[in-house]
Amino acid sequence: MQIFDSEYFGYKNNELYCEGVSVKSITDALGTPAYIYSKKFFGDKYNEFKDAFKNVNNTLFFATKSNFNLNVIKIFSNLGSGIDVNSGGELFRALKAGFQPDKIIMSGVGKTDEEIKLAIENNILMLKAESLEEIHVIDEIARSLNKTASIAIRVNPDVDAKTHPYISTGLAENKFGISSKEAISIFVEASKLKNIKLAGIDMHIGSQIVSVEPFKEAVEKLAQFVLTLRENGVNVEHLDMGGGVGVRYKDENPFPISQLAEAIVPIVKKLNVDLFFEPGRFLTANAGVLIAKVLYTKQNGNKNFIVVDTAMTDLLRPSIYGAYHHIQPVSLNAERKDIIADIVGPVCESGDFLAKKREISKCKRGDLLSVMSAGAYGMAMASNYNMRRRPPEIIVDGDKYFVVRSRENYEHMLFDEKIML
Ligand code: LLP
Repeated sequence: MQIFDSEYFGYKNNELYCEGVSVKSITDALGTPAYIYSKKFFGDKYNEFKDAFKNVNNTLFFATKSNFNLNVIKIFSNLGSGIDVNSGGELFRALKAGFQPDKIIMSGVGKTDEEIKLAIENNILMLKAESLEEIHVIDEIARSLNKTASIAIRVNPDVDAKTHPYISTGLAENKFGISSKEAISIFVEASKLKNIKLAGIDMHIGSQIVSVEPFKEAVEKLAQFVLTLRENGVNVEHLDMGGGVGVRYKDENPFPISQLAEAIVPIVKKLNVDLFFEPGRFLTANAGVLIAKVLYTKQNGNKNFIVVDTAMTDLLRPSIYGAYHHIQPVSLNAERKDIIADIVGPVCESGDFLAKKREISKCKRGDLLSVMSAGAYGMAMASNYNMRRRPPEIIVDGDKYFVVRSRENYEHMLFDEKIML
């Protein structure tokens, strides 16, 4: 079987390490399943992105929907990043982690009045509006608070990001943004509203995009749009590219971020606008692994099953997108032969699998497996289905580790449920 090895998750004497800490030493202390993240990865990826775009005014707003752990958010705040929030809950966390309001932007196709109010009251940098009706609601709420709300309008550039249909968002048929046909009249109307400051234009064409082309095509369309807007007397100060930069889960060959810069910086420079980005997965996916323990191995007919103690409740991506996550042993043993097996969890659903027909070295009860590339949309999409406790999250920094979120317990999961009948 193929072994993934990086400077963040690599093997020493056949044992998997995260930076300078043996993964087994962490799970010996805390049990499994457990999410483990490398702090260095977050910083390296943030700096790589910033460096690629150093010749143009730019701000990164970490898309915290990919990983909303308070300490992960804090790491990005310490790095000087901004943050993109998609709900009142994410805004609350961003503020808790110490983000200054002028480093926070809010996305979302369906913001509630309460969320809009919270954003304006907290003086965040801007809200990204997705319909004319929403723009009017933001204007009204801002008026009632005696404030001016800065907004960007999300335009749907109608480009095919060539990614999974569930995570493709920039086609005319998707629910996101306003169509480019109506965009001019909506921008003109928004620019006249008293309690709105129209600051920018925004797009997000999809996620896990592994070629530069769709980005380039979208930016070219939006650049033309900015020029038409200016002819119509409306100016915008920034262009928000959204997120979507793809990463390697299996054998994808994502473009180096410098290639994205080469493709779009010349277009943007001519417009004299600031560039915003909202990367999520790029900054977090390969920062994390999910460690599981083998509970049972069995054969049904001639099919091998490895039943582990993690499940779709901890990592939903394989079940809902058929996503590939590489899985490899925490302790390598050259004597173990490779087999083909389905790696499945304990939840009572046939859709509860981590991998199907996967080549993996033969396992035994008690072995530890590492599910790779689990730092983005892993814990963030976890649930308590089957009343399973969500796993702990650990951040490794050099040769130290921090339990930044403990495993839930049954009492936690009751919250304030009381027997009333
Ligand atoms: N900005 C906006 C407005 C977004 O909707 C998203 C992701 C991002 C930024 C960050 O995109 P990224 O850089 O992470 O691709 N659960 C799916 C991904 C859903 C992405 C939703 N929006 C998955 O596990 O693949």
